[in-house]
Amino acid sequence: MPLVTTTEMFKKAYDGGYAVGAFNVNNMEIVQGITEAAREQHAPLILQVSKGARAYANHTYLVKLVEAAVIECPDIPIALHLDHGPDFETCKSCIDGGFTSVMIDASSKPFAENIALTRRVVEYAHDHGVVVEAELGSLAGVEDEVNVSAEDSSYTRPEEVEEFVSKTGCDSLAIAIGTSHGAYKFTAAQCTRNEQGVLVPPPLRFDILEEVSRRLPGFPIVLHGSSSVPQEYVRMINANGGRMPDAVGIPEEQLRKAATLSVCKINIDSDLRLAMTGSIRQYFAEHPDHFDPRQYLTPARANIKAIVTHKLIDVLGCAGKA
Ligand code: G3H
Ligand code: 13P
Ligand code: ZN
Repeated sequence: MPLVTTTEMFKKAYDGGYAVGAFNVNNMEIVQGITEAAREQHAPLILQVSKGARAYANHTYLVKLVEAAVIECPDIPIALHLDHGPDFETCKSCIDGGFTSVMIDASSKPFAENIALTRRVVEYAHDHGVVVEAELGSLAGVEDEVNVSAEDSSYTRPEEVEEFVSKTGCDSLAIAIGTSHGAYKFTAAQCTRNEQGVLVPPPLRFDILEEVSRRLPGFPIVLHGSSSVPQEYVRMINANGGRMPDAVGIPEEQLRKAATLSVCKINIDSDLRLAMTGSIRQYFAEHPDHFDPRQYLTPARANIKAIVTHKLIDVLGCAGKA
């Protein structure tokens, strides 16, 4: 089947009590690792591309890689989504360039400006058969193109969501309930420590999620910053020359719970980066004489497939739902 929008996926996910995984793609091995897992698990899939990914790999290369995956996976629905679209022009370029879904991230702007910009993107997108994710509230975290300090982050205010959705016409809404971007989601001061000395983060604000859902019945909610930062990968990195002290993520059982509620899309990027990096570091440590990229990218791709398989089955609950 050709690339699809997320409309049907989200309806089925909402009714079925699961979430669709949205995984960031930056190169061929990442696309292959993710899509091989989704094909094998017969899971619906969102492949998402950030501004940084477009700058790194080039829009056309990424679209063509995703189109190749669509050909290789004829039995599962795949959407191609712009992650954190920063402005109207970037959204327009992706809508014109083959994406089936875009996010306009105006969450750092005042409420009225967020509404106005989101509305403009929605009008253009809907005219072209493309769906739009918007965001209210802001997550902390640092990546290439997303940089919000903990002080500037804020939970979504449930009392704003009805007005926002009705005035913008957006198709899904990302909310801030305590998730955060990157591999260092919380400072040690925000956490407690378990017996092994590993940081335990504060719980997600399910009260906010529930109030948002009560105000927007049937409406698909999105969670960004949903990597769990598996400690096995942090250890693998640290044991092979890396240095990632106190990397910490969102516990998987909390994401599983969110997926059974109104959360229909869960964004995961950092965990794939950790899986790939851990694998490559370990490979180099074990084979210091190797220099063929195919040698170290083969286990790296397999590791991406393994972590995505785990997410589809155990966290998102979307295996077998294609
Ligand atoms: O939330 C952002 C994604 O993890 C993409 O990160 O901007 O470094 O590509 P990036
Ligand atoms: P993580 O950094 O937790 O993987 O979040 C990714 C994300 O939200 C992409 O938009
Ligand atoms: Zn995000």
